[in-house]
Amino acid sequence: MNALTGKHIILGITGGIAAYKSVVLLRLLIKAGAEVQVVITPNGKQFITPVTLSALSGKPVVSEFFTANTGEWHSHVDLGLWADAMVIAPATASSIGKMANGIADNMLITTYLSAKCPVFVAPAMDLDMMAHPSTCRNIKLLKSYGNHIIEPSEGELASHLVGKGRMEEPENIVAALEHYFATCDDLKGLKALVTAGPTYERIDPVRFIGNFSTGKMGYAIAESLRRRGAEVTLVSGPTVVAPPQGVNLIKVESASQMLSACEKEFDCCDIAVWTAAVADYAPACPSERKIKREKEAVNSIQLVMNPDIAATLGKCRKDGQTLVGFALETDNGEENARRKLESKNLDLVVLNSLADPGAGFATDTNRITIISRLGDMMVFPLKDKSEVADDIVNEIIYFRKNK
Ligand code: CTP
Repeated sequence: MNALTGKHIILGITGGIAAYKSVVLLRLLIKAGAEVQVVITPNGKQFITPVTLSALSGKPVVSEFFTANTGEWHSHVDLGLWADAMVIAPATASSIGKMANGIADNMLITTYLSAKCPVFVAPAMDLDMMAHPSTCRNIKLLKSYGNHIIEPSEGELASHLVGKGRMEEPENIVAALEHYFATCDDLKGLKALVTAGPTYERIDPVRFIGNFSTGKMGYAIAESLRRRGAEVTLVSGPTVVAPPQGVNLIKVESASQMLSACEKEFDCCDIAVWTAAVADYAPACPSERKIKREKEAVNSIQLVMNPDIAATLGKCRKDGQTLVGFALETDNGEENARRKLESKNLDLVVLNSLADPGAGFATDTNRITIISRLGDMMVFPLKDKSEVADDIVNEIIYFRKNK
């Protein structure tokens, strides 16, 4: 049975020349066994006729809020609840902008805003529109909402210019959906614990010892684990990154608070991913009052060592748990990562190097190597952190199947 059999799919079509490919996409989705409801924008109808789409889908195409002659109301809310997935292909720059910013001036965008299901977006536009900072920012926003972007390919465009902006081929869009449905329940029934972000160790009420971690990597891992069906608890140090939807977020400040939160969750978790950049030291006696400049005490702060969360909980691990740590290194990466695999009782260690351009803190990308207790070592190229998170989760699933 195909992973799309019986799935309810909303196919959203917006006003771009690539709408002609949506007919093939619709046909392939139907052939794969999906039930498809087409929602098309008014501009989309300039490119492709609703008659073709309704004939192929076996359902009237939805475009307006009302059917003009009968006054029948089309409920975007019901549609959003009906769908197992929504695919917007082609997605023009204008529709992407409206989706990113909640400008609900047509049936397709209102349906998008109501949809609780995963959303796949296949942009299609001219290369300069695709590269414009506005489009880039809007696509980034959609990613931050958890939408899946099916990247356009490079090639000849409708303008006859050559570049990035061609809507991905319908076969590949269907393959992306099939892959999603085939893997979305991989971790169903399992509990995952993820630590993320920095910890802040108070010196006084206005100052702290911290680090440059933003939590982006840990948040992306929490999101990826949730997408694969796990019930996720994310214990996070201070960060401005928006939390992924559908995870249980526990906010903490210091390493000792992070340890206490993790201790409560660790026993019942099946997977733990220690992504947090935990401060190694904390001031021994944080001042309750702001330390004044003239006080000599400010010249030296006595530090105590923080608990090592990964190592502490690694000591009381149970059978069936999979523990994953990170090693952010500047030198002797592999050697240090292998040492951490042992000393923290991990199954997998994710090595990244601050020496690699595009890797480490406060970037949207990362370049990782995963070393497994089973002896495997996988080297990955530089990727977007959400893709890196998916690679890590794939390795966790592989490890659990093969250990
Ligand atoms: N870690 C932790 N608690 C700490 C320190 C680290 O849970 N107090 C976890 C991190 O989340 C990461 C792994 O241990 O998964 C390695 O962290 P890292 O900072 O690279 O290593 P340290 O053990 O702190 O060693 P060093 O700073 O000497 O490299």
